[in-house]
Amino acid sequence: MSGAKSVNEQRLWRRHADMARLGGTPRGGVNRQALSPEDAAARNQLAGWAKARGFGVFTDPIGNLFVRREGTDAAAAPVLSGSHMDSQPTGGRFDGMYGVLAAFEALEALEDAGIRTRRPIMAVAWTNEEGSRFQPGAMGSLVFAHPDRLAGMLEQKDWNGMLLKDALAETLNSAPAPMRALGFAVDSYVEAHIEQGPRLELEAKTVGVVTAIQGSRRYIVTLEGEEAHAGTTPRAARKDAFSALTRIAEAMYEVASDADDTLRFTIGRVEVSPGSPNTVPGKAFFTIDMRHPDEGVLQKLDGDLHRIVETGAPPCRGTIERVGAMPPTDFDPFVIDLVRERTEALGLSHMDMPSGANHDAMNIARHCPTGMIFVPCERGISHNELENASPRDLAAGTRVLVEVLEALANR
Ligand code: GLV
Ligand code: MN
Ligand code: MN
Repeated sequence: MSGAKSVNEQRLWRRHADMARLGGTPRGGVNRQALSPEDAAARNQLAGWAKARGFGVFTDPIGNLFVRREGTDAAAAPVLSGSHMDSQPTGGRFDGMYGVLAAFEALEALEDAGIRTRRPIMAVAWTNEEGSRFQPGAMGSLVFAHPDRLAGMLEQKDWNGMLLKDALAETLNSAPAPMRALGFAVDSYVEAHIEQGPRLELEAKTVGVVTAIQGSRRYIVTLEGEEAHAGTTPRAARKDAFSALTRIAEAMYEVASDADDTLRFTIGRVEVSPGSPNTVPGKAFFTIDMRHPDEGVLQKLDGDLHRIVETGAPPCRGTIERVGAMPPTDFDPFVIDLVRERTEALGLSHMDMPSGANHDAMNIARHCPTGMIFVPCERGISHNELENASPRDLAAGTRVLVEVLEALANR
């Protein structure tokens, strides 16, 4: 029996349902933000399944969780596959979790089929991919690829001022695993993910052979003014932080409106303080997330942002903190070809496509040969509790994944 034939669609679907209960929301999504008790519960769930199958489990200093199936050559660098288990605050059941469960299903399928590979194969759940609670996103894979970034990440705070190192300690206390050193040698990496857009469904294809990820930047813009009485303070005397924020936001939407609608520009979080209806806001901040396949466009927009804040902030003080930046990523041609070839051999329809969303694979691609496999999601809806995917497509993508991992692990 081949690894692909041993992929068990029902088991994979059931595991998604089991995980969806951890942080499950009334609308059918999940709220399992990074390093929360729900994240710890998901870690314990995955580790429990892994131990029941006799796989090794360990973590690293940023909390990435690894599951290892041994190869015949214990000294050979492993092939790695996975994604993330943290979610948006109103996230779906498949974003990230699919890649982790597909990798785990691949290990189980190989085990069921009695297939030995030369290299070990490991499943991984990277810490804090979403970056909705702690900045930046794709943090676990970033630190794995650049261990020198660990110290800075541990000092990051969430929106309530909680330090990442404290949240991480709590998580690892609730979901303990043996600790290994950061950033060990990896032969290659393949990540499965739902597409999070509509193209596969529109074109009736089962598999997206992912060729690249567009570049992205993330900022926090803060405006500091002066609190004052809403009923008595004339306009000329106000230093209204929210008023400055709206001027800047409007100007940014304007410059971000490209004619061909390629640029992705989002203001996703706004906070105003003290948040009282009858006090002129003394402080406000907002986040900017922008993406484009051309790094030059992002650089130009960075310049626009600095200019617009400088002119739009007064009489308030405006500051810009860049909290994340990733140039466009091209995946490895060998891995891309291998994914396409195995998809074809399994008789599945496919198309090449770049990714609009970020993934941990963008960090690991700078570390070892890397590729990605996309499967369709219903109406392209993602970062939404209504996110959905079909058991059949999830299993199909996993069959491709097993074949690719097996080929890489026998090189
Ligand atoms: C992750 O979901 C991202 O693309 O920001
Ligand atoms: Mn994701
Ligand atoms: Mn996401």
